[in-house]
Amino acid sequence: MRSYYIAGNWKMHKTRSEAAELAKALVAQLKDGKHKYLVAPTFTSLETVGAIVKGSNILLGAQNCAPEEQGAHTGEVSVLQLKDLGVETVILGHSERRHIYKEEDELINKKVKLALKYGFEVILCVGELLEEREAGKAEAVCESQTVKGLAGVALADLARVTIAYEPVWAIGTGKTATPEDADAIHAYIRKVVGKLYGADAAANIIIQYGGSVKPENAAQLMAKENIDGALVGGAALKADTFVPIAKFG
Ligand code: PGA
Repeated sequence: MRSYYIAGNWKMHKTRSEAAELAKALVAQLKDGKHKYLVAPTFTSLETVGAIVKGSNILLGAQNCAPEEQGAHTGEVSVLQLKDLGVETVILGHSERRHIYKEEDELINKKVKLALKYGFEVILCVGELLEEREAGKAEAVCESQTVKGLAGVALADLARVTIAYEPVWAIGTGKTATPEDADAIHAYIRKVVGKLYGADAAANIIIQYGGSVKPENAAQLMAKENIDGALVGGAALKADTFVPIAKFG
C-alpha cells in the first residue's frame, strides 16, 4: 500500500534564520500530519534545519549532490558531507538542474547510484518541456528519463526511490497539469517501472506530482489513483501554504 509523500523544495531561497523560522513552524503544525514529509533547504541551511526537524516527522533533504564521493570538484557537495549533516534524502534530476545547469541523464544516474550506495533515499525528477508535450512526446521523454535515471539500480534499492513527475511548463508558472493529464503520465511511468522491475515494484513506487501545487489544487491531484504525493516549490516557502497541502483532504 502506497502512502502519501509531500516534499518541500525550498530551492535557492531563505537565509538560515528564515529557514529556521519556517522549519519550526512546520514541525509544530505538521506534528499531527498523517503523511510522509520532507523539507529540502539550500545546502547552507541544512545543518540549521536538520537540528530543528530532528526527531520530528519531517525528513531532511538536499537538492543535489556531486557525482563523486570526494576530490577536486570545486563548488560541489558530496554524499559524505550530506551524511555528516544528517541528510536522509537527495533530490536529483530536478528540471532546473537538467535545463539551467545542463545535467544529462548519465550524470543524474551516477548521482542516483552514489546516493543509494550511501543509504540515502532519492527523489528522481522527470518531466517534459512544453515543446515536447506539444509534439506528443511527454510519455517518451518521461520514459527515457526514468529508464536512464534508474539504469543499474537494483530492485532491492528501488524501495528508496521516489519518482517526481514535474512537467517543466508547470513549474513556477502557475500552470498546473490537470489531475487527469498528470495521472495519465503517472500511470505511464508506473508501467515503465513495471517493465523494468515487475508488477510489485510498480504498484509500490511512490510517484509525486510537482508543478504549481497549491492548497487549492492539492486534494484534486492527490485523489487520482496514480498520484502519491507532491514535490512543492513556491508554495513550500510559507507554512501558510505548505501545511494545507501537507494536510490535504
Ligand atoms: P513549483 O515548483 O511548485 O514552484 O511549481 C515545483 C518544483 O520545481 O519542485
